[in-house]
Amino acid sequence: APKRSLAGRHALVTAGPTHEPIDPVRYIANRSSGRQGYAIAAALAARGARVTLVSGPTALTAPPGVDRIDVETAREMLAACEAALPADIAVLTAAVADWRAAHEAGRKLKKRPGETPEPLPLALNPDILAHLSAPGPNRPALVVGFAAETDDLLRNAAAKLDRKGCDWIVANDVADGNGIMGGDHNEVHLLTRDGTETWPRLPKNDVANCLADRIAARFAP
Ligand code: C5P
Repeated sequence: APKRSLAGRHALVTAGPTHEPIDPVRYIANRSSGRQGYAIAAALAARGARVTLVSGPTALTAPPGVDRIDVETAREMLAACEAALPADIAVLTAAVADWRAAHEAGRKLKKRPGETPEPLPLALNPDILAHLSAPGPNRPALVVGFAAETDDLLRNAAAKLDRKGCDWIVANDVADGNGIMGGDHNEVHLLTRDGTETWPRLPKNDVANCLADRIAARFAP
């Protein structure tokens, strides 16, 4: 078992997709399984951290000792994260839906056979990572974001580090057909203000343990 090097620290982790309702029976979602985030929550808890896992809808069970809060939408996820502060560490792995339906219909939308469907107006969701990274008394000492990209991975990830104001970015290539999104393995780069490390293709549990060890080192006395 790893040393309890994060004892006394509070870590906030987000995981999974969000579901953004269109009407009572339909929603916008994505292919995130939540596995990487759940593995990170487990790895931080194994190192002694108190872990709050704010999770979108997934098929996973909470790792032992982790306090899980279930949410559906991006706006609920942001509210749950803010309610969980203060935290020393925030690792935001959730694949938050960028957009939601601008108007949630109170009744099931009806199809009209033979008629062209109406366009679906979208609204931009809040960016939880940018919110938690913003300077303020409740800003966690270490905020880690993820960047899942299909193109220009490192350039986009570096731009994200600057734009969102987080401390580290874990960048992964989710190109179609590489099996990472929803799969068991991950191949990541860790971008910090000091540079970029490339890790080998590893099971998501091992990526989580490597990241948790890096986080523990960052908080070592
Ligand atoms: O902008 P993009 O979605 O690529 O950024 C990914 C990172 O930002 C991830 O850490 C994700 O959890 C976080 N994010 C967020 N809220 C959003 C969109 C992304 O926290 N609305």
